[in-house]
Amino acid sequence: MKISVIGCGYLGAVHAACMAELGHEVVGVDVDGARVERLARGEAPFYEPGFAEVLARNVGEGRLRFTTDMGEVAGARVHFIGVGTPQRESGLAADLSHLDAAMTDLVAVMAEHPVAGALVVGKSTVPVGTAARLQAWCEDAGVAATVVWNPEFLREGFAVKDTLTPDRVVYGLPEDRVAGEAARDVLDEVYAGVLVHGMPRLLANYQTAELVKVAANSFLATKISFINAIAELCEATGADVTRLAEALGHDERIGPKFLRAGVGFGGGCLPKDIRAFMARAGELGVDQALTFLREVDGINQRRRQHAVALAERHFGGSVRGRRVAILGAAFKPDSDDLRDSPALYVATRLVGQGADVVVTDPIALPGLHARYPHIQTAPDARAACLDAELVMLLTEWREFTTLDPQRLGAIVQDRAVIDGRNALDPQAWEAAGWTYHGMGRASTTW
Ligand code: UDX
Repeated sequence: MKISVIGCGYLGAVHAACMAELGHEVVGVDVDGARVERLARGEAPFYEPGFAEVLARNVGEGRLRFTTDMGEVAGARVHFIGVGTPQRESGLAADLSHLDAAMTDLVAVMAEHPVAGALVVGKSTVPVGTAARLQAWCEDAGVAATVVWNPEFLREGFAVKDTLTPDRVVYGLPEDRVAGEAARDVLDEVYAGVLVHGMPRLLANYQTAELVKVAANSFLATKISFINAIAELCEATGADVTRLAEALGHDERIGPKFLRAGVGFGGGCLPKDIRAFMARAGELGVDQALTFLREVDGINQRRRQHAVALAERHFGGSVRGRRVAILGAAFKPDSDDLRDSPALYVATRLVGQGADVVVTDPIALPGLHARYPHIQTAPDARAACLDAELVMLLTEWREFTTLDPQRLGAIVQDRAVIDGRNALDPQAWEAAGWTYHGMGRASTTW
């Protein structure tokens, strides 16, 4: 099938490549010329395991191309929308300007080159009510296209796998039964190579499909902030949050995932999605229903501030002139994404307070140099830790969590570590002569 993917950021670029992988003829559109050029050459503009191969193969075999010209989507049966919906500069709500700009151009192309049974399939995370607005937009412009909302749940680091074999697929369909059934059948054809694996495919109205995505991210954020709030209690009492989380996780109703206490969540989704959700609830007059998310956000911010406070406390109040090695810049391992990264927050705060900070990260340093050229970096953990008075682990890359405390101890000035991800073995580090500070983690025999 001839498909377009509008917006080739993280979500869109991966979606476009995966749709081509399923055998469709795909054109990806983005306003960023440099990004389009790289993608068109089959080069991944960001780090994502497995993506570069899928991209290069499908560009090479001619099923996938990229352009800045919206005119080239003419004739496609299905138009996926994957543009970014970041947090607005002012306030908590989502900025829909990229979405609206894309729709303006797309509707003009569809009006000029009508395709019978065309679909506009939204994948971006949007405030509830957006799909209905876009459907009305098409109708007002005299364009006979059906809007479907088909939220994307992909995780960075697993984007290709999550696109080709997701846990579930959700179609948000219009109230008009005939149009909805026709749209469902077209999407079933698009996703035939995905649905063959037998995952649940749920049908819902627009509002439900839009809400599923923000509800899922809110739940995940709440789970992380819950355990981080408990970590604060552990700190106040001498309990150990990692052992506590392990015990909680054995309860099937709770489960062990997303209970890792530490410096908290970041990235391009969780923080902005819970804020946009609160803003939308306010507009709908049900802000009280989501006031707990303000606390979820607050707990999350406190944890990164707590990591900074631990460093200050370690140096008796001031970090000025102190040599601090920071292991990790990305918001999580297996990603070069620095958006709302707790590690970056801690690094910039300590630099701002006059500490002599050196940051290392296996793949996020180019992005760090581009945005914060004044932050010193080192190519690897050993180089970053040379002569350090304090080591802070803030992104749990494998190459950091498997460091040998004995060998690292030989090159630092002082053996002190703040484990912002509770990813090190405190006993092994203490046995090697290190002062170990975890996040809600007690130094205990049991
Ligand atoms: C998230 C959702 O998981 C995904 O379904 C959605 O489509 C997009 O947002 P992602 O941003 O890639 O995906 O990252 P995720 O793996 O969810 O981690 C988010 C943040 O939470 C990271 O900063 C991670 O370090 C942190 N985290 C995660 C914790 O602090 N503790 C945990 O137990 C789990």
